[in-house]
Amino acid sequence: MPTKITLTEDDVPRQWYNLAADLPSPMNPPLGPDGKPVTPDQLAPVFPMNIIEQEVSQERWIDIPRGVLDMLYKWRPSPLHRATGLEKALGTPAKIFYKNEGVSPAGSHKPNTAVAQAWYNKEFGIKKITTETGAGQWGSALSYACSQLGLECKVYMVRISFDQKPFRKTMMAVWGGKCVASPSMETQAGRDILAKTPDTPGSLGIAISEAVEEAVMDTTGKTRYALGSVLNHVMLHQTIIGLEAKKQLDKFGIKKPDIVIGCAGGGSNFAGLAFPFTYDKINGADIEIIPAEPASCPTLTKAPFMYDFGDVAKMTPLLPMHSLGHHFIPAPIHAGGLRYHGMAPLVSHAVEEGLMTPVAINQLECYEAGLLFARTEGLIVAPETCHAVAATIRKAREAKEEGKEKVIIFNLSGHGIMDLNSYDRFMAGDLKDNELSQEEINASLEEIKDHPKAFVKKTGKW
Ligand SMILES: Cc1ncc(COP(=O)(O)O)c(C=O)c1O
Repeated sequence: MPTKITLTEDDVPRQWYNLAADLPSPMNPPLGPDGKPVTPDQLAPVFPMNIIEQEVSQERWIDIPRGVLDMLYKWRPSPLHRATGLEKALGTPAKIFYKNEGVSPAGSHKPNTAVAQAWYNKEFGIKKITTETGAGQWGSALSYACSQLGLECKVYMVRISFDQKPFRKTMMAVWGGKCVASPSMETQAGRDILAKTPDTPGSLGIAISEAVEEAVMDTTGKTRYALGSVLNHVMLHQTIIGLEAKKQLDKFGIKKPDIVIGCAGGGSNFAGLAFPFTYDKINGADIEIIPAEPASCPTLTKAPFMYDFGDVAKMTPLLPMHSLGHHFIPAPIHAGGLRYHGMAPLVSHAVEEGLMTPVAINQLECYEAGLLFARTEGLIVAPETCHAVAATIRKAREAKEEGKEKVIIFNLSGHGIMDLNSYDRFMAGDLKDNELSQEEINASLEEIKDHPKAFVKKTGKW
């Protein structure tokens, strides 16, 4: 059996897959400030209309425009590897595969949607895009995409990551993006938070507020906001990962994986790999689908499914999702991209329906897994990705105990070359686990207890 399968550009899918078309029960709509479902017009100051149309689409397959494909070809298709070194080290009968999204220019899956969003904005006549970034992966991906299309890019980077990851800032600057630490003095939302908590490490929820505020306050109407995860259109753009992976598994002679794994922050890299397999599961395939999240920010495993804002300043609509509360500030763990209080509504819905079984993993187990992966497979993966590796190792060990030859595929969402100081701290014994207690969760949820409840009429099939 080969150790990797690389497809040709002709094999890159020409359409994205939209899980919304196949969910067994209808999704709860996002709600506006009046408690009524938001209309596309209400979203128009924030996103261009061509993206809003994708956000609400119920079409199963959506064509990828030629201009977007041309940009994706710069690094796609991405390779699918068999992790023979890891299998050997674990002595497992499981076959482990990983899709390497670290080969993109910015080093993660994020450019898959960044180039699409930048392209649609440009088509709509937009000149500048604002955004937030956690670990800096999304900010660098969008800076890259904007540089390819001649758009201006402004990034609000969560304070803690801004300090921990200086080279991500350099990447953004190299691609012409302007990056500021969030909370900042540049927006009302930032100034209000700094007045109350000047030492805050920041959060994605705060950074989103600032980026949305800057977009909607631009009186020229030529600025829009872009989100790197959570929303339906972002999940859609990422499905190119799973669609390619299916073709590659087929070339490995594998008709169906038993287990599909991705780390989950806002849900996009996980969804990208998992949704095309979720389609198979809805149509009868027996596949275990696992989003892996940090124990310090256990959205899917411990937070309720309800309506909450995507950001601290309540600039976004109320979204139906698993949420720890929009004020929640997660512990400053190194997997900055997983420090988000909410989760993609599509992923949340599928979890409620029983199609996916989330796990929460502590930081130290994740770094342990990252080290083993680096020493057996060679690649140093991002701290976020370490969660997917840790979940994979758990399942491979289970397969060994059961003596079963399971096929496991996980998404290698990004490389960790910009995160070496976190590996340094782990190897020096400076990191600790920050598992969130039930008391902390209850206290945070108190603030959103009056929000409307979201509801999934479960089919009970899974
Ligand atoms: C490498 C990597 N993996 C995963 C994530 C988490 O985001 P998402 O859940 O949207 O894939 C991030 C976010 O910044 C990231 O940079």
